[in-house]
Amino acid sequence: MTDGRRTSRRSQAWFGAQGRSGMVYRSWMRNQGLGHEVFDGRPVIGVATSASELAPCNAHLTQVAEAVKRGVWQAGGLPLQFPTMATGETLMRPTAMLYRNLMAMEVEELIRANPLDGVVLLSGCDKTTPAMLMGAASVDLPAVMVTGGPMLNGKYRGQDVGSGTHVWKFEEDLKTGRMTEEECFFAEGCMARSHGHCMTMGTASTMACMAEALGMQLPGSAAWPAVDSRRMETAQAAGQRIVTMVEEELRPSWILTREAFENAIRVNAAIGGSTNAVIHLIALAGRVGVELGLRDFDDLVRAVPTLVDLMPSGKYLMEDFCYAGGLPAVMAELLGGKLLHGEQITVNGRTIAENTESAERFGPDVITRLDAPFQPAGTGIAVLHGNLCPDGAVIKQSAASPHLLTHRGPARVFDSPEAYHEVADDPDLDVDKNTVIVIRNAGPKGYPGMPEVSNVPLPTKLLKAGVKDMVRVCDGRMSGTGYGTVVLHVAPEAAVGGPLALVRDGDLVVLDVPNRVLRLDVDDAELTRRRQAWTAPAERHTSGYAWLYTQNVEQADRGADFGFLRGSRGHEVPRDSH
Ligand code: FES
Ligand code: MG
Repeated sequence: MTDGRRTSRRSQAWFGAQGRSGMVYRSWMRNQGLGHEVFDGRPVIGVATSASELAPCNAHLTQVAEAVKRGVWQAGGLPLQFPTMATGETLMRPTAMLYRNLMAMEVEELIRANPLDGVVLLSGCDKTTPAMLMGAASVDLPAVMVTGGPMLNGKYRGQDVGSGTHVWKFEEDLKTGRMTEEECFFAEGCMARSHGHCMTMGTASTMACMAEALGMQLPGSAAWPAVDSRRMETAQAAGQRIVTMVEEELRPSWILTREAFENAIRVNAAIGGSTNAVIHLIALAGRVGVELGLRDFDDLVRAVPTLVDLMPSGKYLMEDFCYAGGLPAVMAELLGGKLLHGEQITVNGRTIAENTESAERFGPDVITRLDAPFQPAGTGIAVLHGNLCPDGAVIKQSAASPHLLTHRGPARVFDSPEAYHEVADDPDLDVDKNTVIVIRNAGPKGYPGMPEVSNVPLPTKLLKAGVKDMVRVCDGRMSGTGYGTVVLHVAPEAAVGGPLALVRDGDLVVLDVPNRVLRLDVDDAELTRRRQAWTAPAERHTSGYAWLYTQNVEQADRGADFGFLRGSRGHEVPRDSH
């Protein structure tokens, strides 16, 4: 065409169409006050926002979207904002994780079905970040992520309090009489002082850092607090950048390579990140055809110390992390130790090495150095195997008690978290500090949705006796803000007949983290007998989304994605609707 219009652009299949169809596509858009000139072939950028008042961590994303749109206009693109569902962690029952795959499906289909050339993904709360990345990866149009940023540090009576992490602490304090109910009410408000997601290194902050480490969000942007003006500046820059990414055809499949995932896994170890990253990264890798398994998480991190002193493993919070230099400072340090692939390309078109060249560290206590780390190498996430978890299980060593990492104790088995909670306050509960609390049927299929219930609070009678930690084993997940010696993600889960289903009260459970073993001290013949007597629990869901979920969800070691969502389905323009 002579007017410079790019007819090859995807959006032009809609807005550049002739005749009736083109008129329909353009005319209705003009009811928003758009002039005819915006259909001239400029890049059309979807601004996918998961803003929702039901997902408080994402509630401010509408404002962030405005900044993104400003950037898109500045760079000569046409921004079109659209809502996606929001899987808020705090309100959704039975668990937000049940809906991660649904949200990923929605994001994927919305991008593909619409006249978009590129997309900016606005996320915040835990599951929203992986869901958006998974969906966008399966379409593989240029995409950049902008996470909404953490809340300001919680402040209660002169001390920093971390969202999530202090909920568990306050609960214990309430149970043991160190806090009154009134004090707890007051503390609630002190913990959530501003817009934003959890400001601990929980799953939201972890996944924001993962998006940055993978190269899917602009360098330095994971840590800006939600209410910091530079969060908006970053959003605007992302809006500008996506327009150029469309010109460059820089797609997620170029960025999300095996090396990018290796970088992310190592960064997760260095930041003391959430165990949930294991599941989400494996699921995302599945979308782009990168082979990633549980063992990678163990193998790759053995040489990586924890550099960042943040709750739940340490004492600082995301605001401190931001002022200390944020993720670029951590990545520069890892790169210096040859622990990252520096040549990996990122959304800004530059490599990890280029992006971290000028990174500075301002808070030496918050972000430590490789030669004097916050916690030594080998204290991050460990992957366990053994007859209790043939397909693996996960433990976060930095959040566990060192004396329990090698432990042998009798099992006390609960068929659901509720069954445990019913008796947890019983002063005559038959447990002592050596007991291994086994919680089952909390896996992807069994719950369904694999909730964050694994770090059940200790039995009240033991808390009162001063016991601070016990070994817990579960096929569910743990909040990224949680702590304790908790073995998670046991696979296969009990509900599909994993060995966890065969454990009985009194069986000896052997936890040997240094040797990466989780074992049941029961001989094979006995386990076989029990397996023959085992019957699968009745299907709880025979219709609806929960049925679709339980029929298709894969086990934790495969990322708990739906089997049918693996891989990319591309961005071919669908057939005309008119
Ligand atoms: Fe949303 Fe923690 S509850 S980020
Ligand atoms: Mg969480």
